[in-house]
Amino acid sequence: MEQMAHIEVFDLTCNHKIEPLGIDDKTPRFSWKIKAEGRGFEQAVFRLQVAENRDFTDALVWDTDKSNSGQSVLVPYAGRPLEPRTRYFYRVKVWGSDGGESSWSAPAFFETAFYSEEEWKGAEWISLPLPEDEHGNEPAAYLRKSFQLRGSVASARVYATSLGAYKLYVNGYPADDTHLSPGWTSYTKRIQYQTYDVTSLLREGGNAVGVILGNGWYKSKLSWVPGRIYGDTRAALVQLHIRYTDGTEDIIGSDSSWKGNDGALRISELYDGEFYDARLERSGWASPDFDDADWRAAVLYDFPKTGLVAQENEPVRVVKKLVPVSVVTTPRGETLLDMGQNMVGWVHFTAVAEAGTAITLKHAEVLDKDGNFYTGNLRSAQQTVTYVCMGGGIENFHPLFSFQGFRYVKIEGLSVAEIPGRFEGCVLTSDLQAAGSFHSSDPLINKLAENIVWGQMGNFVDVPTDCPQRDERLGWTGDAQAFVRASTYNRNVAPFFIKWLRDLAADQQLDGGVPHVVPDVPVAGYNSAAWGDAAVIVPWVVYQRYGDERVLREQYPSMRKWVEYVRSQGENEFLWNTGFHFGDWLGLDAKENSYVGATSRDLIATAFYAHSAGLVAKSAQVLGYAEDAASYSRLRDSIVQAFRDEFVTPSGRIASPTQTAYAVALMFDLLKEEDRRQAADRLALLVEESGFQLTTGFVGTPYLCHVLTRFGHADLAYKLLERREYPSWLYPVTRGATTIWEHWDGIKPDGSFWSDDMNSYNHYAYGAIGDWLFGSVAGIDTDEAAPGYRRIKLQPLPGGSLQFAVATHESSYGLIRSAWSRSADGDIVYEATIPANAAADVLLTGVKRGGVTESGRELEHSEGIADVAETPEGLRFRAGSGEYVFRIKTL
Ligand code: BGC
Repeated sequence: MEQMAHIEVFDLTCNHKIEPLGIDDKTPRFSWKIKAEGRGFEQAVFRLQVAENRDFTDALVWDTDKSNSGQSVLVPYAGRPLEPRTRYFYRVKVWGSDGGESSWSAPAFFETAFYSEEEWKGAEWISLPLPEDEHGNEPAAYLRKSFQLRGSVASARVYATSLGAYKLYVNGYPADDTHLSPGWTSYTKRIQYQTYDVTSLLREGGNAVGVILGNGWYKSKLSWVPGRIYGDTRAALVQLHIRYTDGTEDIIGSDSSWKGNDGALRISELYDGEFYDARLERSGWASPDFDDADWRAAVLYDFPKTGLVAQENEPVRVVKKLVPVSVVTTPRGETLLDMGQNMVGWVHFTAVAEAGTAITLKHAEVLDKDGNFYTGNLRSAQQTVTYVCMGGGIENFHPLFSFQGFRYVKIEGLSVAEIPGRFEGCVLTSDLQAAGSFHSSDPLINKLAENIVWGQMGNFVDVPTDCPQRDERLGWTGDAQAFVRASTYNRNVAPFFIKWLRDLAADQQLDGGVPHVVPDVPVAGYNSAAWGDAAVIVPWVVYQRYGDERVLREQYPSMRKWVEYVRSQGENEFLWNTGFHFGDWLGLDAKENSYVGATSRDLIATAFYAHSAGLVAKSAQVLGYAEDAASYSRLRDSIVQAFRDEFVTPSGRIASPTQTAYAVALMFDLLKEEDRRQAADRLALLVEESGFQLTTGFVGTPYLCHVLTRFGHADLAYKLLERREYPSWLYPVTRGATTIWEHWDGIKPDGSFWSDDMNSYNHYAYGAIGDWLFGSVAGIDTDEAAPGYRRIKLQPLPGGSLQFAVATHESSYGLIRSAWSRSADGDIVYEATIPANAAADVLLTGVKRGGVTESGRELEHSEGIADVAETPEGLRFRAGSGEYVFRIKTL
């Protein structure tokens, strides 16, 4: 057949990642995007090949031939069993429903790591326990080994992990640009290992491999309660495989022939920071010719190798570097760097100073009312980095195993003149692919959208944390479920949440209970409604956004167990009216001196119980578990009935009315169909009566604008969004916020602070409004019936005083764009881009038949448009892939 050049296959991914190195999945899944000119492209056939060589001439392990399938996202491998430690290449070509054919895509690769614990046979857990200082700090251990190469190297890989955090070096060079490995998992059950391609770091003859081993999440203090939770003994496991061009292989594993010593890194704690005495550096320690004769033999440990899993999340990297915007001298005489942005990561600096000069950096998020350095809200976290110079030239440093949440850096030990040009802020985060942007005619709303992204970056350092600065930084489940939907618009969070959900399941209690924080840090506690429900909500959202059914299948037992746990708790089977709950955390209708909003905790608990039971029923349906689907849907019906009996008056009012009570009842469809509209009107009235102020906390806030919009009060939702006075999303922006705050009034209008004990300036929870910005204002959403943006819901919502809004989202199918603007003549121009092999269901709210044209044509006659229907909500139609320009006449 003639080759039609206008179809192109690109952006191949394997398990949501670009060219992953070291997967332990035996049936990886492949996705691709298609570029096709014109409109309405649908893939009818694909062909996928997987081979061990890049030109696919032989060694094919899978060839689908022409497969009559429209699937282009997460196609599971079904070829010959994959070998461990092998790089495979894959490529794809597609045919459209019109017969058009693409060329082969450029090849992409994935590489397998270990498929069984046995493959760790070449390495032992090793360590070098070092004496602790009087505060219990164990210095970092430096572990090394020299070895000879036998010939010319075809490829070399290191597989490594640790109890504690580690950094791998080969011949003196870092093995890659990742940080904080092996990441944070439920260490007693699961630890990730990493794969490094070190081929280019090896050289003929003598070579060396080394690790620096620090505390990381494993041995650092975690939480506000003193003490460690995993273990005291750190250890590393390192296995280097060298393949020679003659086909033979050497394995160099960590064992008792490795040598160890202490070095310059004396203290490294996640919260407290680092102390590095460069005078104690053992220069060249990771180089082959280093003399380690006086180093001690590494100590072997027989820690298990079970539970070792290949890297699941994207690694943590420095993704941005910020230059300080100014050097400030405070009224108190302190010298500060202002990074201009509340960021998470560390400061990298260079210095020239005499041996023994101590340079100390202290990190804080805000300045106090008088402009002085303020660390009260960090609680016990020190966030202090001290570097003692070795002298004699230019030195440079950044922390290795800690990170700081800060905008301001107080510098001690250098004069103001020595500062310029020497400091940069390195932004650390899980390096997830960027997934979209939001922009409107209101600069404050744009800043809010930007702050949401910064909040996400800072709190997505391997686990979704509440905050990145004080002595907490934990994987609070409630915050994660509140923010997960918004997060998907900013980054491809699939690998991030897939990993975290496995930890959630691993840390789930025998009775189905869910820790408040995941990975579990027991002092935080267990089993609050809207927190534990993350077990159900997060997998469902990941499934919706990425069409990843496997996540749902994997998490299903955990989802079900949570609902069964809840079922066993209440005084009767259908109400959850017992136990401890955070309630509508930080709701503004809280009583004086309480963090808990006024909404009844039983109401919230029962509402989430119904919601989770419903999601389990839907998930069972998707997965083909018919019996469960029926029984959980019956359970949901019974809970809904119990909810109405207990909390709703016969005429459909919520008996104890709060904004949050109405928001959850409406969001989760708990009220009778015929009562919903008037309930929404009551919610609107509540908002109006409070002077157009929201009173919602963590539970109600994510839903407020959604339900107002859904039930005809979009104008009010806009009013809340555009409000600038406290309390509102924009109030912090007017106060100079560069991230999302924990409290609506983290800095009060008079410049004073909310109390020290709980006042983070980088908490993503209220950033959940991002979901409404992308999903409603710009109008890009998923469709439950065809998840993963296979069918896109496009429902732009011109409103408020906005003149335009535009969002893009890089979905698994490709770029979605939704942009509306008011034109000079009062019409609304709406532009939509729909990626190939996807389609959109468009709703133009309030528009009637005949009220819209597309590229100058009547809608009905426009290519790619079908099923135009006038409905009470507005004009609905289907649009195939392509770019569209609609002009909506306003009456
Ligand atoms: C955290 C929250 C968390 C809450 C539990 C706080 O300390 O920062 O974000 O959800 O505790 O209510």
